Amino acid sequence: MKKKFLDLGTQPITNAYLTKESPDKEYLYNLSIAFDEETKLVSLVDMVKPEMMFNDSYAHRASMSKTMLASFKKIAESLKARFNPKLTLEIGSNDGVFIRNFNVDEVIAVEPCGNLAELTNKMGYKTYTDFWDQKTAEQIVNSYGKVDVVFSANTICHIEDLNELINAIDLVLDDKGVFVFEDPSLYSVLQNTSYDQFYDEHVYVLSVIALQNIFKKHGLEIFHVESLLTHGGSNRIYVKKIYNKSQSVLSSVDENIKKELSFGMDSIFTYEQFADRVIKSKNDLIDLLIKIKNENKKIISYGATYKSTTIFNYCKIGKDLIEYIVDTTPNKQGKFSPGMHIPIISPEEGFNNSVDYAFLGAWNFGKEIINKEHDYINRGGKFITHVPHVRVL
Ligand code: TYD
Repeated sequence: MKKKFLDLGTQPITNAYLTKESPDKEYLYNLSIAFDEETKLVSLVDMVKPEMMFNDSYAHRASMSKTMLASFKKIAESLKARFNPKLTLEIGSNDGVFIRNFNVDEVIAVEPCGNLAELTNKMGYKTYTDFWDQKTAEQIVNSYGKVDVVFSANTICHIEDLNELINAIDLVLDDKGVFVFEDPSLYSVLQNTSYDQFYDEHVYVLSVIALQNIFKKHGLEIFHVESLLTHGGSNRIYVKKIYNKSQSVLSSVDENIKKELSFGMDSIFTYEQFADRVIKSKNDLIDLLIKIKNENKKIISYGATYKSTTIFNYCKIGKDLIEYIVDTTPNKQGKFSPGMHIPIISPEEGFNNSVDYAFLGAWNFGKEIINKEHDYINRGGKFITHVPHVRVL
């Protein structure tokens, strides 16, 4: 039975950056999170229709960060060295940040956002402008045959129907093939009180426990888990068909399951305690911002992330507290943040001497940002974060 444990209030579509500060209408829904005591899955209670989130005006560009560019290059090289694939498939190829590490005849991609698929098709990479399902998998098998490696980053947790998703993987994968995917780790979210990992696109925030259960039902199994620092703590999960004995199941699988069980991730009480920490985080952040503002200091936010949309809408933080957001992504600049309508401008325009405090909306790139912004720090500029608890850095 699904039990709701957290209510993050009324929220907009995180990808719906606004061209006007006061739009005529804006789609809003209730963002609540539930734990399923049977499957151990943590999911949104109300889900937004995929077509409303993933469309031709999708804003996020995965290649905007040096950290992610390096991470995708590294995993592409590692998959080639470890599994020697003749054909690799990526689900959710965004702007080609992963596939560009392959020759065009070694990789195919699936990407439902038309603007992004057009980009990679133009680069010469065959990209299906489709959602990932059995129909798309069949088309690929008919045109290319089975694939050796299926890779996906920050996409699997967007797909509501996990049974359909896994059936489609099973269909497209060669008997000795592997499915490797990475997504934010529920363990890290609980450790960091990073409730901002919950938003419309993240239909699930996944645990290894829940994944192991569902893969087993489909004749697949996890054979390795890597813990990554990306996106504030992610799991990279390696999956194979159970009857494929060419890959042995590594100790990392049991180690991760034991770690999650010892943290109580199979029990609703753990999630209820997390919800209490989220409420404290909200109150602490509002108090800190008001205190700074009362000292007549200027606060902005660094990174117009989807995550910060959850925070600003949950905490009702508007431009009275955060004057504007700076972001390097050209198609976010000149727009307004969903829900709270905070202006978004380029760092060149907005990250200047007038800024006293910058909230790390992109806290997952904290290291990259702090390394880059030494001039700001040297002149006394300060960063604020809410992970793992609210504080000035
Ligand atoms: P991302 O990490 O994808 O977070 P989310 O999934 O929550 O949207 O987004 C990071 C955003 O931060 C992206 O819009 C680019 C921006 N950014 C900067 O503006 N400057 C930087 O130095 C970095 C690293 C990111």
